[in-house]
Amino acid sequence: MNTIQSYIKEHKDRFLNELIELLKIPSISADSAYKKDVLKTADAIKISLEKAGCDSVEICKTDGYPIVYGEKIINKNLPTVLVYGHYDVQPPDPLNLWNSPPFEPVIKKTELHPEGAIFARGACDDKGQMYMHVKAMEFMTSTNQLPCNVKFMIEGEEEVGSSNLAIFVKNNQEKLKNDVILISDTGMIAQDVPSITTGLRGLSYVEVEVTGPNRDLHSGLYGGAVANPINILAKMIASLHDENNHITIPGFYNKVEELSNEERTEMAKAPFNLESYKKALNIEAVYGETGYTTNERNSIRPTLDVNGIWGGYTGEGAKTVIASKAYAKISMRLVPHQDWEEITQLFKTHFENIAPKGVTVNVKTHHGGQGYVTPIDSIGYQAASKAYQDTFGKTPIPQRSGGSIPIVSLFEKELKSKTILMGFGLDSDAIHSPNEHFGIFNYLKGIETIPLFYKYFTELSK
Ligand code: BES
Ligand code: MN
Ligand code: MN
Repeated sequence: MNTIQSYIKEHKDRFLNELIELLKIPSISADSAYKKDVLKTADAIKISLEKAGCDSVEICKTDGYPIVYGEKIINKNLPTVLVYGHYDVQPPDPLNLWNSPPFEPVIKKTELHPEGAIFARGACDDKGQMYMHVKAMEFMTSTNQLPCNVKFMIEGEEEVGSSNLAIFVKNNQEKLKNDVILISDTGMIAQDVPSITTGLRGLSYVEVEVTGPNRDLHSGLYGGAVANPINILAKMIASLHDENNHITIPGFYNKVEELSNEERTEMAKAPFNLESYKKALNIEAVYGETGYTTNERNSIRPTLDVNGIWGGYTGEGAKTVIASKAYAKISMRLVPHQDWEEITQLFKTHFENIAPKGVTVNVKTHHGGQGYVTPIDSIGYQAASKAYQDTFGKTPIPQRSGGSIPIVSLFEKELKSKTILMGFGLDSDAIHSPNEHFGIFNYLKGIETIPLFYKYFTELSK
């Protein structure tokens, strides 16, 4: 029988080994030292799409890393699903915190993954989740069960802002025309609690530089008499939140959508255990904006976080010095309706305004993107919901995520189609952290669920 279950059973080892091979290539888009590896990964994806049954696959050049594009058009009158994913990964640092090297994948069992998980950078974000789609495609084409047209668009710059993909999308509207976009690059609530991501936060990422005296000074000779940029920066950053952990930038909350009590009650129904949450992170208490629950704080509320801060002497021993400059990288997670460029401007104006005399500040924009929400009454959502119902035996819960995939709102703007976010990772899979992993259960469940999405989407489109 050519069911997806029997197909997975038969090909499971190969599915795992192919992913492991892909994970061995360090496709770190942020570090130019890995350029060859990033390009090599694009080639590997091209070959895998060809083998999975795409009719034409091309490596589309951009000013940065290429986009791998493949398609199989079986009938112009049938719907078209556009699959998006990314083959680049985050830098693995800090290396010493990995229990096994990040690009030498190993399978280990964990409490949440009793069937084993693949440990490697990119295992979950996003090579493992992207590759589920390639294997689902292989199943559908090789068993003659592809019910509609498919287009694949796999990029290599998601972790650095997707700026070249944005240009590609604007310039290739016809080629990318589709009825729904399908992405697996998010998570689900728990192994036995399937969920579909219905929202993503937007992002504004800035870097600030505070300059005091024109050179580093002796902290005894000058200390107390001139502004210390590091002290000042710390003070300025601290002032960006008030005692209720509200962000103090004027106008920051102007466009924030307040959810109705009904919506909040609905959200609160999602299973969540605060004690295990704290235990998993080894913290005594959670921390955040007054008046909101943990799940609200990390999904429907905007945030401001320092991601890195540096300046002065950080080497071994002590050096008495007042640094000339101090720096910080700051991200603001935004909710739908907040415009990232407007928020970036509000931040810049406010940060310049609060700088005391004696220092100058410079705010540089890195990248950003708008948030995203998708309704649950669309055909796409319904198709996904039915697919999960079949493979998990439960109706999936709609859930807004705190993470960002900025290109999704651009897809909506340029291609006029909605994205369905079928994520199969767990929050505890340590994406962007040391020891990233992806459960074998999750990987195979994804491969099993995806073809059903195609089936139901095609049926519901009639
Ligand atoms: N796949 C993640 C985003 C994500 C993860 C969303 C889990 C929801 C749940 C993506 O690769 C990512 O890391 N995005 C970045 C933004 C990007 C512009 C660098 C992020 O959210 O920090
Ligand atoms: Mn990702
Ligand atoms: Mn990521």
